[in-house]
Amino acid sequence: MRKAFVAGNWKMHGSKASILTLVSGLNAKVGEVGDVDIAVCPPAIYIDFVNRSLSTGKIAVGAQNMAEEPVQGAYTGEHSVAMLKDFDCQYVILGHSERRAIYGETDAQIARKVKVALENGVTPILCVGETLEERESGVMETVIATQLDAVIAEVGIVAFEKIVIAYEPVWAIGTGKTATPAQAQEVHAFIRSKLAQLSADIAQKVIIQYGGSVKPDNAAELFSQPDIDGGLIGGASLNADDFIAICKAAG
Ligand code: PGA
Repeated sequence: MRKAFVAGNWKMHGSKASILTLVSGLNAKVGEVGDVDIAVCPPAIYIDFVNRSLSTGKIAVGAQNMAEEPVQGAYTGEHSVAMLKDFDCQYVILGHSERRAIYGETDAQIARKVKVALENGVTPILCVGETLEERESGVMETVIATQLDAVIAEVGIVAFEKIVIAYEPVWAIGTGKTATPAQAQEVHAFIRSKLAQLSADIAQKVIIQYGGSVKPDNAAELFSQPDIDGGLIGGASLNADDFIAICKAAG
């Protein structure tokens, strides 16, 4: 039985004041959420502030990216997995479509980052997903398989026991266009069956989140699909009531 996992991707949003309001709301209401794993992923510069502001052990903290180089060195503007650990980060989002599209991150680079995260005990939330053009031209499964294969080649199938996958159709991110529960379920089942070709056991255990315009009013139906194990939430994670409502829907 997989335990649902909901993570908030705050992207490049927030200030000390707005984050304090958000975290206070989460502190006050997280007790209403049932048996669900929860994490929030603030901009890196606020990770320590969020950790110190959280008064509940129910919410873990994650980062949105990290360097390929594990420790330290002359990499201006980067932060390492060692630094994330130093500030008690349990998760790191890797391969988000915004990192792929805007910053040119490649499958190979993302795979190396996944390896570095795993080697250092930080759980990667590995994002995969197709663009609208790829979906409409019929190469959706090939695109997602290629994204997964790069990571499988780097770390092996057994490592997926410690990886969270987030299926995020690029056309649904921040657009208000959610994949229908059936569309999302179809891809989640494809991902699980692809992993099952290598290990049925790992495929059954791996958490696959859905991400892309998840809101309180569509979360329950998405999360009720058999292969959807929670969500990676962007916009709606910036409001405590909405995020808690989504977490409840996963419970
Ligand atoms: P959204 O973002 O919920 O705002 O669509 C999801 C994400 O990018 O992780």
